[in-house]
Amino acid sequence: MSDFILAIESSCDDTSAAVISDGHVLSNLTHTQIDHAKYGGVVPEVASRIHQEMIVPVVDAALEKAGISAKDLKAIALTSGPGLVGSLLVGISFAKGMSLALDIPLIEVNHMRAHILAHFAEPPYPEFPFLCLTVSGGHTQIVKVDSPYDMQVIGTTIDDAAGEAFDKSGKLLGLPYPAGPHIDRLAQQGSPKFPFPEPQIPNLDFSFSGLKTSILYFLQKEIKNDPEFVAKNLNDICASIQDRIISILINKISKAAHQEQINQIAIAGGVSANSGLRQALEDWGHQYGATIFIPAFEYCTDNAGMVGIAGYYKYLKKEFATDQLVPQPRMKIN
Ligand code: KG4
Ligand code: ZN
Repeated sequence: MSDFILAIESSCDDTSAAVISDGHVLSNLTHTQIDHAKYGGVVPEVASRIHQEMIVPVVDAALEKAGISAKDLKAIALTSGPGLVGSLLVGISFAKGMSLALDIPLIEVNHMRAHILAHFAEPPYPEFPFLCLTVSGGHTQIVKVDSPYDMQVIGTTIDDAAGEAFDKSGKLLGLPYPAGPHIDRLAQQGSPKFPFPEPQIPNLDFSFSGLKTSILYFLQKEIKNDPEFVAKNLNDICASIQDRIISILINKISKAAHQEQINQIAIAGGVSANSGLRQALEDWGHQYGATIFIPAFEYCTDNAGMVGIAGYYKYLKKEFATDQLVPQPRMKIN
């Protein structure tokens, strides 16, 4: 009989459940909350209410798709941070109740570690040690991964995350939230002809807030001359924004690879779905002689499959949580 683990992810605006069997993902289902689009960003109170509505149907569907029932489960893995406290609380409360009812242990999972360990959901797997560029709506990190248990952050953003840079720039252009996928699509029909400045940040850290400000001033100036400027140049503006975000990311991962002498490079998090970033990373890897690992699309954005994989590694070591488990909105990677 396999060791089935249920995994739950509810740290932001995705309610997701997955079933993992001996480290393999059998089902991975996500309800993405579209309700936030009309507010131009995630509203925490709205997010936790929708998690409450969706968690039971999503978990039921994940069990059904995996072809098992709740009593077959050996453990429940769940994200306890970082994330929105109310959203995390829904997943934690649900998992605690289920673990009590079934008399099975809980496994506490760090959301950022889960993004990285998503690379072990499907082959090819990176070899240790590898570097992972984790780029999401809330985080931008370069992590040195020595093993599934041993990771350290060697570079991080000092202000906005890469996903926020996409979303806030998109907002200035009047694009719906989250703007990342829209900029990606529009950029494919444009050329990066507007030169936005690259911030000069020492070491392996990132900064994106200056880019947002320079886009704002650029748009204000151009709209003064031509009120139709954005509509006439939307594709080129998107291509220029995307191009600069990508160059910031590629320059830092390149610096990290040289510094650490590591040529196994992975990307993770929602922004790793960006087609321009994927291509630029492949091109850089080809030049530098690095092997690039890009997760399948379903493992890029928030999903419980990655939580299940991270949970499975802890399950192997019997690292179970106590019922004192609480949300940790600012949880660090170690
Ligand atoms: O990892 P994720 O699903 O949630 C967080 O933990 O934040 O990442 C969401 C972020 C959003 O900022 C969204 O705009 C961005 O990922 N994103 C993209 C693309 N798809 C999602 N950014 C650029 N291009 C994309 N194709
Ligand atoms: Zn995430």
